[in-house]
Amino acid sequence: MLKNKTIVLGVTGSIAAYKAANLASMLKKEGADVHVIMTKNAINFINPITFETLIGNKCLTDTFDRNFEFSVEHVSLAKKADIIAIAPASADIIAKCAHGIADDMLTTTVLAATCKKLIVPAMNTRMYENSITQENIEHLKKHGFAIMTPESGYLACGDSGKGRFPKEELILEEILYHVAFDKDLTGKKVLITAGPTREALDPVRFITNYSTGKMGYAFAKAAMLRGADVSLVSGPVNIEAPSHIELVPITSAKELFEETSKRAADADIVIATAAVADYRPQTIADNKIRKEDKSDNTMTLTLERTEDTLSWIGQHKKEGQVLCGFAMETEDLEAHAKDKLERKNLDLICANNVKVEGAGFGVDTNVITVITKEGANHLPLMSKFEAAGEILTICSQISNR
Ligand code: CTP
Repeated sequence: MLKNKTIVLGVTGSIAAYKAANLASMLKKEGADVHVIMTKNAINFINPITFETLIGNKCLTDTFDRNFEFSVEHVSLAKKADIIAIAPASADIIAKCAHGIADDMLTTTVLAATCKKLIVPAMNTRMYENSITQENIEHLKKHGFAIMTPESGYLACGDSGKGRFPKEELILEEILYHVAFDKDLTGKKVLITAGPTREALDPVRFITNYSTGKMGYAFAKAAMLRGADVSLVSGPVNIEAPSHIELVPITSAKELFEETSKRAADADIVIATAAVADYRPQTIADNKIRKEDKSDNTMTLTLERTEDTLSWIGQHKKEGQVLCGFAMETEDLEAHAKDKLERKNLDLICANNVKVEGAGFGVDTNVITVITKEGANHLPLMSKFEAAGEILTICSQISNR
């Protein structure tokens, strides 16, 4: 995702510097040309050779003997960088950047660069929360720097609080947000439903299904990285939502209907991947249901239909709006999917057979047949993220017609 991109990774004197090695490696694996600039203090935490081995480029430091042939490097790097990410960023580097100080390789590169700059603070809570650091951060924001918020938790110094280096995956996502992909969905509002629903029986039991939310979350990430304004209405799942989106957590089919239907009118593209319960228990018991007749081995539940959110959106479809449904089937895939396309007034439906290897619940891949009014397009086995990208492109083409 970062082919032909030049990324300068600034590493400063923080214990989290060792985690920057993993980040550098992840950036390299995404195809980027990665250049690491370390401050003098960073060298106390991690050896430049670690980065050089991982990225295949000379690591720039402030030691004269390592650097003499690269003395003008900061200017050329500043020119060719697509983004400069300082991760981890100490309070010291934040203060220096905020005041235009340029007294080493990293700060001179930052000052000479016109590209996007990303700061990933990692430090002791008190240093982070100090009003001077906070003022410096605000000042940097005013100058167009993107700043990530550190995580809370146990810190290496023994304190607990805000200041932890975010997970490398999140930093990678932030870098992708700024420099990867054409932002062809900018200005488009994309509404996505994802995950399972839970229909309560009593205070301790519910009816649900095997959906993990992976497909819907892949859509949210792909759309966000292409510049869309994303709302993700999600049932209970165990995956972290992408950054820069509106996450709307729901539990039941009723809540999914309420939250999705009120956002539908504003959406340019609606993608319904949620595995919504079609029926819910007619009554929810106030107390735990007990085995009444101990000799009876059966139990009968009375269920009632839930709201069909996608059908409702189809009935209230706005001019130019694109509606994309999902149909997970076990037999007669295309026939069932086509029926849903028409019945729910959709523009396209993505059909997948749960019994096909690499498709279905819980896996990171899918084998999808995209059915539109014009016909069927069989996509090969691919990651859910790639499949989401392909389907978003089809949605965007229909939307721009
Ligand atoms: N869907 C929805 N609300 C529901 C049921 C389904 O929004 N109450 C959406 C799903 O998110 C999916 C599409 O409708 O995008 C098709 O869902 P599916 O369960 O396959 O279809 P059903 O209409 O429930 O049809 P059937 O039970 O006959 O398979």
